[in-house]
Amino acid sequence: MAIHILCVLLCFVLGADALEPRITWQQTEINLMRFQVQGVFNYSMLLLSEDKDVLYVGAREVLFAVNSLNISEKQQEAYWKVPKESNELCGKKGKSEQSECLNYIRVLQPLKEDFLYVCGTNAFQPICKHLEISKFMFVEKEEDGKGRCPFDPAQSYTSVLVDEELYSGTSYTFLGSEPIILRYTNPQSQVRTEYAVPWLNEPIFVHSDVIRAPQNDPDGDDDKVYFFFNEVSVEYEFVNKLLIPRIARVCKGDQGGLRTLQKRWTTFLKARLICHSPDNNFFFNVVKDIFILKPPQVKEPVIYGIFTPDLNNVGMSAVCTYSVSAVEDIFAKGKYMQSTTVEQAHTKWVQFNGEVPKPRPGACINNEARSMNYTSSLNLPDKTLQFIKDHPLMDDSVVPIGKKPRLVVQNVTYTQIVVDQVKALDGNTHDVMFISTDKGMLHKAVSHGGEMRIIEEILLFPDHQSVQTLLISDKQNKRYIYASSNTGVVQSAVAFCEKFSSCAECVLTRDPYCAWSPVKNSCVEILQETDRHLIQTLNGASSQCPDSTHKGIRESMRYTVKEGSAVELKCSYKSNLASVVWTFNNESLKMNPPKYLLHNTLFIFNVTESDIGIYQCWSQEFVMDKVFSQLIIKHILELEKTPIPLSSTLQPSTQMKGLIETTRVYKIAKEKTTKTSTSQAATTSVSVTHLNNKVTTNTVSVTEVIGSIPDVGMEKTSYLSSTNECSPLIILVIVFFLLFLSLLIYNCYKGFLPAMCLKYRDTVFPSKKKTPLKDCEQGVKEILVQKVCTENQCGGTPKAPHDTGYETEPDCRNGTITHKEDETIEDKEMDQPFDVNCEIKYADSDGD
Ligand SMILES: *[C@@H]1O[C@H](CO)[C@@H](O)[C@H](O)[C@H]1NC(C)=O
Ligand SMILES: *[C@@H]1O[C@H](CO)[C@@H](O)[C@H](O)[C@H]1NC(C)=O
Repeated sequence: MAIHILCVLLCFVLGADALEPRITWQQTEINLMRFQVQGVFNYSMLLLSEDKDVLYVGAREVLFAVNSLNISEKQQEAYWKVPKESNELCGKKGKSEQSECLNYIRVLQPLKEDFLYVCGTNAFQPICKHLEISKFMFVEKEEDGKGRCPFDPAQSYTSVLVDEELYSGTSYTFLGSEPIILRYTNPQSQVRTEYAVPWLNEPIFVHSDVIRAPQNDPDGDDDKVYFFFNEVSVEYEFVNKLLIPRIARVCKGDQGGLRTLQKRWTTFLKARLICHSPDNNFFFNVVKDIFILKPPQVKEPVIYGIFTPDLNNVGMSAVCTYSVSAVEDIFAKGKYMQSTTVEQAHTKWVQFNGEVPKPRPGACINNEARSMNYTSSLNLPDKTLQFIKDHPLMDDSVVPIGKKPRLVVQNVTYTQIVVDQVKALDGNTHDVMFISTDKGMLHKAVSHGGEMRIIEEILLFPDHQSVQTLLISDKQNKRYIYASSNTGVVQSAVAFCEKFSSCAECVLTRDPYCAWSPVKNSCVEILQETDRHLIQTLNGASSQCPDSTHKGIRESMRYTVKEGSAVELKCSYKSNLASVVWTFNNESLKMNPPKYLLHNTLFIFNVTESDIGIYQCWSQEFVMDKVFSQLIIKHILELEKTPIPLSSTLQPSTQMKGLIETTRVYKIAKEKTTKTSTSQAATTSVSVTHLNNKVTTNTVSVTEVIGSIPDVGMEKTSYLSSTNECSPLIILVIVFFLLFLSLLIYNCYKGFLPAMCLKYRDTVFPSKKKTPLKDCEQGVKEILVQKVCTENQCGGTPKAPHDTGYETEPDCRNGTITHKEDETIEDKEMDQPFDVNCEIKYADSDGD
């Protein structure tokens, strides 16, 4: 085990196969419904009533009923506050009256017909109540909630209602020291776990659910209730407490023993859940949440679990899936573990190899037991009961389906999971996982052709609150995801197909929920569509799309500019996995100065006759080892024919206007932390100079190019205000830039910088020894501009013989833009103190 732990540390450094969400939806882009009430926190419990279209929300000291089709519509509320005396009493026991000594809802279950079963911590005196739904009022009578609801709101809990009986996993005492798995029918009839280390050892409860035995089961087996938790390992020894993820189960028909194990489970068995990535020998030792996909959606139930390496966030998460039959095989046929005393008082757990009594300990009452005349747990023989009391732990572990995780992500901590099934148009059914994070995000992942993809991520909570509960409705036509956090509840659609405006984009999203409707000329959600003439190819091929020549195009822009002016050609694309490629007059665009590429935007300074033509921006995306290209935008650049008026004929103020130069500081705030490359030394802010007043635009998208100064009396005063606000920063930026420039010049002169600088040095100081140049590095101002090169240009270029000791690896990757480079710039920028988004302008010396 020590090796495993060592590996946990080592392998983390080595890393695992990371997946990136293809599309990131921001708050402003999509329409999410929200529910939150001022002054109300800890929206911990969600319960959906599909037939009534109501979502019940259990928060701190209050229960709500909201419209499940639009959760911002509150329908009912029922407050359940802690009496003042209880609150004070709780405070006297050393708990916080403002937070801990309040009432946190921990159980919210539907009872038959018109009632809900609700339990709350109630200032460390847990009680359970019935709520009458029609009146939305709590019934007077209340029950002691011990064993069903924790005392302490910070403690773990789980519960499930099965045939009017509540199964719960929680702690039994004020101090929370006595863990318990309990079935509560009425005060007289309760069955629970033995309070002993082999049964439960400091568990952290995660989930519980029922799995019904198949009807007409040949073994005559019982329904089973499963519990998922982490507990401190007894079988592995380690310096610190080692947490082990567990699956445990009890049988619904268990009545406890008659003498041995009276009112205790006779069917409590548990095993270790393994979630291990063999690619890098990485163990995920903590289960965070479980979702069980059940029939009729699937033939056999599948257990989906999310795991992290340990309790404290290490920034990695995995999804492992288990088949229930594999679990049942271990409980029904596997070996037991047993503790032996090795030295005095020191126990060790080893495999039990002795004779196992009959009927098999821990088995439900099935046909086999019945044939031996054991019709109830109450008449099981003492031998069997004594055995199960001492041997609840199985020796075999539950191995995930495929023997490895379905999904591994880095720098993300998953908190909750729900799984939906959707039948794509090709007739295949896909399991779609919705997984929330501790930063308020929701990932939607699906596997297709053996490849797992995160189709999209959605920012659910703008304050980046950890998602605590996740729920999916299983309506046939319109499904929603509900998520709750400490500050509110949010409702999201399962897909955002309508956001894709072209057939190619719709198909390339490869979302089993989405398809292109040629009739409606839009991307639609298939569950809601009656029209079956839809285009959906989950391998991304868009050849079926109508009008394939303009399949991706959204806009076409035309610019008429004066010679010597600057233009900015934008190109934005949603996919995080695509790269952008520019063509010029249908040939690949050579990124020579004065052309620069920055975050997919093409800048051309000093436009000349040769720059006139059609610029097209293409996205390139790899889908199952094939490249899919689509045209995103087309820019047409033309030269203005009219001669420029002489400056002497102009008014002074107008002259001034012509002198203005706008310098913009670009801020790139990408949230993702990426590997910082060391190849760029002194990357500072990215500043791009626009020569203003020389560009005439016919379209809106390039209006930013034009700036003005206040005393000219131009309309665009917005620039002015932003200038004033950041003037100290501007000075700082300018000072820093000048410093940086002198440093750059000095280093260049000294020959410390790579070839492209040397090229300049050679021009300025021709006497200096010639240095071989690298074709690849065409982009001047490395710090400002991304490097772009094509395969042909750099493929065979050898490394410069005169290496300057500066990283000068060619950045060629199939002729696409290297994102590493891109991200380096971003990272560096984020570190800079003058990382501000403001526009600066100052007088230009370049008069007309
Ligand atoms: C309840 O919500 C508050 C406010 O977000 C949070 O600080 C606190 O930790 C939450 N308490 C529990 C027990 O979840
Ligand atoms: C079970 O009980 C029945 C009737 O009580 C008896 O006839 C039968 O022999 C018993 N079987 C076993 C295996 O004990």
